[in-house]
Order: sequence, then structure tokens, then C-alpha cells
Amino acid sequence: NTITTFTMIKPDAVRAGHIGAILDDIIKAGFKLVAIKYMQLNQDTAGIFYQVHKERPFFKDLVTFMSSGPIVAAVLEKENAVEDFRKLIGATDPSKAEPGTIRAKYASSIQENAVHGSDSNENADIEASFFFSGLERHPDFL
Ligand code: CMP
Repeated sequence: NTITTFTMIKPDAVRAGHIGAILDDIIKAGFKLVAIKYMQLNQDTAGIFYQVHKERPFFKDLVTFMSSGPIVAAVLEKENAVEDFRKLIGATDPSKAEPGTIRAKYASSIQENAVHGSDSNENADIEASFFFSGLERHPDFL
């Protein structure tokens, strides 16, 4: 059980003013911040991040949306982080997300769904490394 996952607070939730509330939910659920940054993706970098979806019909809109404004990217640490974080955020489609989950509370559509969460330990490492260097991660041993 890997102890880190990767998340983004997406442009819809940033625009709606939910950064603080979402980080508060994440920290109260027992996740520790390992790395965090506030930044904007461009179309190229958003396309690379979501390249596994490049054949999907929603890919172009997804890239446009994800580069439409600033995001918060973060690496989170907790036992069973990937699975527990996916439970905390709820289903991709907010209308199907459990009440109380981050997407149920803050998302507006299947695309503008407030947050990203890695779907496997392998992808968590790939995604965290795409956004953060070793220097930007808080080392556990300090
Ligand atoms: P995320 O968990 O970041 O991973 C892929 C993203 O693509 C997803 O959240 C949504 O933002 C978007 N997405 C997934 N499925 C659909 C869909 N059917 N229609 C539009 N966007 C989608």
C-alpha cells in the first residue's frame, strides 16, 4: 500500500473560490501535504498530463478546460492514499458522487468536477513527478 497520491484542484473549483475548503477537507481526512503549487497549465502541458485520454471524445474539451485558469497541484501522503483519496472525492460524475464527498459538494459536471485524484499507485508516481521535482517535496526524514 503506497502512501502517496497526486491531486489537482481544477480551474472550476479555483474560480468558485473553493481552494481553502477543499484543502481543509483533504487535511481533515488525514492526508498530509508533501508538495503543493498554484499554477496554470497550457494546452500542451494539459494534453501531456491527460495523454491516456487522447482518443476519447472529451479530450479536446478537457484540455481547453484544464488550461482555462489556475489550478492547485499537490502530492498527498496517507496510508492507502490512492484508494482513500478516491473515496474522499467521490465518483467522476458529481451527480453520482456520494453525499459529503468533495465532488458532491463542489463539482458542477462530469468534466468540471472540481478535483483530480490518481487512479493507481503507478499513475500517482508518474503524475507527481510530472509536476514536482525532488527538491519541491517535503522529505519525510526531517
Ligand atoms: P479526472 O479524474 O481528472 O480524469 C479525466 C478527466 O476527464 C475527468 O476527471 C473529467 O474531468 C474528464 N472526463 C471524464 N469522463 C468524461 C466525460 N464522459 N465527459 C467529459 N469529461 C470527462
